[in-house]
Parts: sequence; structure tokens; C-alpha cells
Amino acid sequence: MSNSAPTPFRRDGDSGRFGGYCLWHHYRLQERTSSRTTFPKRAGVPVDIAVVPRGSYTLLPCSQARDETVERPTVHVPEILLEADYNAMSLRAGDIVGEAIRHNPSIVLALPTGTTPIGLYADLVRRYRDEGLSLSAVTTFNLDEYVGIAVDDPEGYHGFMRSHLFDLVDIPEGAWHLPNPQATDAGAEVRRYEGLIDASGGIDLAILGVGANGHLAFNEPGDTLTGPTHVAALADDTWLRNFPSLAPRLKDEPELRARYSTAYTVGIGTILRARKILVLASGMAKASILASAVRGAITPRNPASFLQLHPDVTFILDEAAGSWVHYTA
Ligand code: GLP
Repeated sequence: MSNSAPTPFRRDGDSGRFGGYCLWHHYRLQERTSSRTTFPKRAGVPVDIAVVPRGSYTLLPCSQARDETVERPTVHVPEILLEADYNAMSLRAGDIVGEAIRHNPSIVLALPTGTTPIGLYADLVRRYRDEGLSLSAVTTFNLDEYVGIAVDDPEGYHGFMRSHLFDLVDIPEGAWHLPNPQATDAGAEVRRYEGLIDASGGIDLAILGVGANGHLAFNEPGDTLTGPTHVAALADDTWLRNFPSLAPRLKDEPELRARYSTAYTVGIGTILRARKILVLASGMAKASILASAVRGAITPRNPASFLQLHPDVTFILDEAAGSWVHYTA
């Protein structure tokens, strides 16, 4: 299958790092949508996203609208599925992912870790056991893994994926992939991983969680985002959320912060090259960042906002996580 997703973002030379498009697209949306749809420019005014057509919109900073040299990425309105709670979100995701596997048994998936996808994985295991769903021809690439840990580290993602999915279904050993935390040459490892993804034909369906700060995989907020797979430093708030048992000890043992402080992560470009993207999120803590991601400025300060550059994104949100998407960010 050819890779149809465009890569409409600016690259600085060959470094693959993306600067920000701090460009607001509300004006353009206002022009293109029907007269009954309004997009107030003030923050905090309710907007019914359900009436926004899921089309594509050309992103033009008003100040530069006449400048033909300005690059004009296309932004997209994602599909947003709101579910009552975490369980319903997980089952809906199971429907979509299960159907995608049945439709294309040799599908290439990108998989997340964290608390969010646990219910989805449980539902896939149930479908495998009770409904004959087979993952025997599926290929998977996890989004991230900590650098330097043992493969069986209890906080690591190899063990997480084995215990929640890989050891419970019929996916063959060798068909699932994570970055090698024990690689001696990190530069070679990121190239190997990106190369493996390319050699598989590219990601058909990337399933993502979102950090409360907007991170995707371990692409943390910053001045720039990195396109390909790379080694990233965890933001402080990500580290504190991911290691709640270590956090209280930090005061007396500050050296603990160095543990799990860097991770291999697919890049924002790797994610945007997936043919379809499914984002799962639950809980009030993510409501604000999700609203910004869906409707706000496309900026590396909120990596999830870059999803607006992809033409086929579906968010499945529980009621709490989705409670702000109807409001301008
Ligand atoms: C983690 C992972 C992300 C994950 C996110 C959300 O740090 N690197 O891939 O999506 O944070 O985690 P959770 O689902 O636990 O909220």
C-alpha cells in the first residue's frame, strides 16, 4: 500500500526538526463553514464541533495571507467519538481496531503503553479468545521504550506489552517490535527502528495515547519537535506521572530522577506518516490539552496539535476527556 498521508510540514534542512506553526485557523474555518456555524475568536466561547464539516482547511496566518512564499500546510478536523466512560472508550476502540485487523489481517500497527490502552488490549484479548480474532499476521511497533533499562525491567514497556497483549494472543514472536533499551549505539538504534518501520511498508494504524501535557509517545512539548525516531528526555511532569512510586522519594534521593529519564520514541513525523491515527484519552486531566490539540494553534508546545496536519484522525474520548472539545481552546 502506498503511503498516502502528506507530510505538509516544514523541515529545517535535513535535521527533521519542526518549528512551530503558531497559526490560528479559526478565521479560515469561519470562511469555509456554513453561515449557521460560528467560530468566535475569543477563548472560552462554546462552539459545537459537531457542526464543523470534517473537511480540510488551508492554514493561512492572516498577517501573511498574501505572501506566496509562506508554506501553507493543510489542517484537518478530526473525527471525535465521545463515550460515557473509560470502559465504553475501550470497547469502542476494540471495535475499530478489531475490525481493522479483520479487514487487513497483515495490518501494521503502532501501539501505545500507559494506563489508557489497557482496556483496549483486554478487549482485543477477549476478541481473540471468544470471537476468533487472529493477530497471527499482524506486525506491531511500539511507540517508545526507556533507554538503558533491562528488557525485563518492571517499568519497561517490553514487559507491559507481553503481559497485556503479546503473550495472550497469537501474534508470533518477531512480529512485534519495541526499541531495544540495551542497544549500545543509540544513534544506530533509532535508525534501525525507523528502518524497520519503513521496511514493513509503513504504519497502517497508529494507536496513540496523549500525555496530560500533550505529548505523543515521548515527543514532549518544546520549541521544536523531532520528526524521526530519536532519543528524548522526559519532561518533569511526565516523569512524575509515570513513576508515582518514585516521586515521593525524590526529595531525599534526587538522583532517582536520572532513572527512566530518557526514552527511545518514534518521532512526530513517524506518527504523521501513519495511514490512519486513532487517539484514545480518558479523564478530566486531559480535557484542556485535548481541546487545544483539536482546535488550537499547531505548535510544538502541544505536540498533539500536530495531529491537525493528518487527514485521517479519530479521537475516542470518554466524557471527562472530551468535556472541553466543544469550547475554543
Ligand atoms: C506515557 C507514554 C505515552 C502515553 C502517555 C499517556 O508517558 N510515553 O505513549 O500515551 O504517557 O499515559 P497514560 O495513558 O498513562 O495517561
